[in-house]
Amino acid sequence: MFDVNKIRQDFWMLQGKTNEGKPLIYLDNGATTLKPNCVIEMINDYYKKFTSNIQRSDYQLAYQVDEAYQKAREVVADFINCQSREVVFTYGATHGLNQVAYGYGLKNLSKNDEILITVAEHASNTLPWYRLAQITGAKVKFIPLDDKGRLTLENVKKMLNEKVKIVSIAHVTNVLGYCSDIKEISKAVHEVGGILVVDGAQSVPHIKTDVKDLDCDFLVFSGHKMCGPTAIGVMYGKYHLLEKMEPLMLGGGMNSRFDASFNVLLKEAPHKFEAGTPNIEAVLGLKAAIQYLQAIGMDNITRYEVQLRKYAISEMKKLDNVIIYNSDADVGIISFNIIDKDKILFGHDVSTYLSKHGLCLRSGNHCAKNLWQHLGTDSTVRCALYFYNTKQEIDKLIEVLKTTTLENCIDAVI
Ligand code: ALA
Repeated sequence: MFDVNKIRQDFWMLQGKTNEGKPLIYLDNGATTLKPNCVIEMINDYYKKFTSNIQRSDYQLAYQVDEAYQKAREVVADFINCQSREVVFTYGATHGLNQVAYGYGLKNLSKNDEILITVAEHASNTLPWYRLAQITGAKVKFIPLDDKGRLTLENVKKMLNEKVKIVSIAHVTNVLGYCSDIKEISKAVHEVGGILVVDGAQSVPHIKTDVKDLDCDFLVFSGHKMCGPTAIGVMYGKYHLLEKMEPLMLGGGMNSRFDASFNVLLKEAPHKFEAGTPNIEAVLGLKAAIQYLQAIGMDNITRYEVQLRKYAISEMKKLDNVIIYNSDADVGIISFNIIDKDKILFGHDVSTYLSKHGLCLRSGNHCAKNLWQHLGTDSTVRCALYFYNTKQEIDKLIEVLKTTTLENCIDAVI
């Protein structure tokens, strides 16, 4: 039984007040999420009770951490339905996308090959491909979005041809919150011999994800957007692709042996991708976060967020001073601006004003700097919901939006 009030008890930060003495209303979950106490406790336990390195030492404490680390890989594998050897721990989705671009792309792309992305992609799913194209002579092309900013299967198919080697798209886009049909896109990409890379940063925390069913070749996501610690993420890759890929970084823990004649033998995937001492406490924290989400149930999370988004949209639509850019988003991401005297208010000023009332919302281009051409504005205010947000919090947002004027924003900023 999904009980939001009970769930909120699990979050230390939801019990307190902001520096302005207001209850915290955290609506910036697209940027990062709050951490439940079980995640904080797991990290604390590692520091207080069982600190040791992994896969290096032969004493009891080290075995205990080795086991916990391996268990975390299994928990991730179960969460996205893959084999544990297909789970590579990274520092986040950005790291994963760079690893695919250089580790796979440099080996498999050459002049005139094509990489397809869209203008709705985050910088992390854009800039590594620009660089890969620069190095290899391949071309980056943009799959057109429809009028609303959605990626359609039809438009993907129009861009596909035998030169396309990589298609890299977000499962859910971070400004408009549109969900792409990964399963069908994947079929189409495979028909021309390409691979499909999925940026799951905004989808995995909110929607049950099954990589076998989606049949994507790579999927990356970040722990901190799903109640886990920062600087931990996952790169899932089909094992036969991981086997052929080069690691971005070399160092301890990822090689089997090397000698002074420059012979180097790497370990097998996933270990060859995890050079140096990893972020052990964050891996354990991610495990706790996933188990926490699984206990609530991913389907319950999706259902609740969709209902809350519908409520928020219907209340925001009643306000004359709000322009919404994605009233029909598939998840709880609402991008909007405020108008006063026929002018759009500067988003960062709006956020500063909202924060005086305890509301945390991100403004700007949200790292999707190519999207303005489509939206007709280079900045929006973004309300990004998670399963611990409530209707009462939306009501407070609406109440404050009603008073969001140029004058009040200036007062808040100075
Ligand atoms: N990628 C994060 C966002 O969309 C930081 O806000």
